This record gives sequence, structure tokens and C-alpha cells, in this order.
Amino acid sequence: MSINRIDHAAIRVKDLGEALEWYEGVLDLIVLDRNADRALLTCGGDEADITLINGGQAVESFAFGVDHGDDLDAIMSRLNNSGVEYSRYKDADRPGHGEILGFDLPSGHHMEFVVADGARTAGVTNFTSDGSARPTDIDHINILGDLNPREFAEFMKMVLGFKLSIALTIAGNWAGSWLRASKLDHDIAYMQAIHPGDRLHHIAFAMEDGNHYFRLSDRLVENGHRWEWGPGRHMAGGTYGTTKGFGTNTFAYVLDPTGNRNEFSGGMDEMDDDASVVNDTSPEKLPEFMNGWSYGIPETFLSTGT
Ligand SMILES: [Fe+2]
Repeated sequence: MSINRIDHAAIRVKDLGEALEWYEGVLDLIVLDRNADRALLTCGGDEADITLINGGQAVESFAFGVDHGDDLDAIMSRLNNSGVEYSRYKDADRPGHGEILGFDLPSGHHMEFVVADGARTAGVTNFTSDGSARPTDIDHINILGDLNPREFAEFMKMVLGFKLSIALTIAGNWAGSWLRASKLDHDIAYMQAIHPGDRLHHIAFAMEDGNHYFRLSDRLVENGHRWEWGPGRHMAGGTYGTTKGFGTNTFAYVLDPTGNRNEFSGGMDEMDDDASVVNDTSPEKLPEFMNGWSYGIPETFLSTGT
């Protein structure tokens, strides 16, 4: 069974026109198609990376790519063994996707696995910028829920074969889990929601390198926006002073007009098959784990989701 990275996310926005001023107008994503109810956008190519759905907020569904249809068969057999209900379907409104296998996670989120329609492989992240500010691809997702992060991680490991990269515990209690299906540091993260009902912390896009962050930072300020936090470098997996290894990717966060958080992420390292870190911290030490480049975490980052 070969599971790749995230290939698509459907995000709800309170006003589609306003959201497009951000995703198309500022981030420079390319609109593949638009009607009154939804818009399909890509960072490049013919397949949709993001569907913006008019009305509401947070995440409607997200899809990980697999290589072939028999990978969907293998996941179905794992879901059967665990008594998880699923359905297999095609969606004419999903450019780039052939067969889709969809089911609900124990956190309530609707997850899918998809096979690419056409020559590409679904869920392989492109990190090569064309020299513009536009992010190169969808990169990962960080969801929120009321379920304990340890239980979420167990499901992803036991049922879907994901590997736990980092468990962040605060005074022994699980606050979040970061998991991978690919070799890269993390493909999905889950944190306990501070506000019950919150479902999304951020959807992340891929960045090529530091110069790419410079270009996007300038594009934000030229359009009257500022980062919520960053650019910075996470230090989640190791001790301070480590720029390689678990949880050391670069980041910058900003809120879309609905309040859905976007991350721009780069520089994840590849991990050994069975490698994992459990890091116990305290609220006082959390800022040091979360950013190696400067002090403090914005209050909104810890308290606000959608
Ligand atoms: Fe992230």
C-alpha cells in the first residue's frame, strides 16, 4: 500500500467573492473553474488543489493521493477490518481525480484517498517555484477536534498505516500529533480544539526556499496584509539549536478573509521509516519549541481555529 501526501482540500468560506480576492488576488492561485457555489483553484497544472465552497468556514473534506486503484482496495480492507464505513465514488467536480474512497475519521472529519485521473501521481508535492510569489502546491493539513490527539494518532497508525512523527505533550497530556504517510516530516497534524466545534487550524501550502518567503511577504504587504506569525522555524522535535530533523520546517501563517488559517511551509526533512519523537513541554517552554528564530507566539495562533 502506497499512500502519498495531501492532494486536495475543500474549504468553506463565508463569501466566495471575498475569498477569491485573497486566494486568487493575493496568493495568485489559478482559478480552474468558478460558479456561484464554489471555485476550483490550483497552484499549477490542471488538477484542483483547493475547492472554496461558498458559505460557512473550516474544512469540508481533504484527500490524500495514492498511486493506483489497488491501493484503494488495500485501504478498504483495512477499513473493513476496523468496522469503518466508507464509500467509493467519482466526482465530476474534481479535476485531476479519478476514483475516490471517502470515510469519516473518528474526529468527524471527512477524509478521502484518491487516484489521479491521467498521467500524474496524486499526492506528490511540487516544491519548484516559477519565480513568482505563488505557493508551489498544497503541502499538509492541520485539523482540530474534540477527540484526544492520542486516539487520533492511534487510528491513523493502526487503521491507515500512517507513522507518528511527533507527539507534543504538555505536562504529560497529548496536545497534538503530527503524522506522515510519505517520508517527509508530516503530512497531517491534529490538535485538540480549544473551542469545541473548531475543525481546522490551518491548511498549508508548499514553499521552495527562503527567497520564496521574501517574494510572498512582499506581495502580502503590497496588498495590505501582514503575516499572523512568521516566517519562522519550528523546533518541535528537538532541542533548541537544531535546524534539521523532526518538526524543524519553516513556516509563516496568515488568516484568509473568513478566518481560516493558511500556512506556507518549507524545508521538511525526510525521516526514517520507524522514527518518532514524543516531546513533553510546558506552556512556558512552548514558544521555544514553536519557533527558533524569535520569541513569543501570537495569542491568536494558540486560541483561534475555524
Ligand atoms: Fe502546519
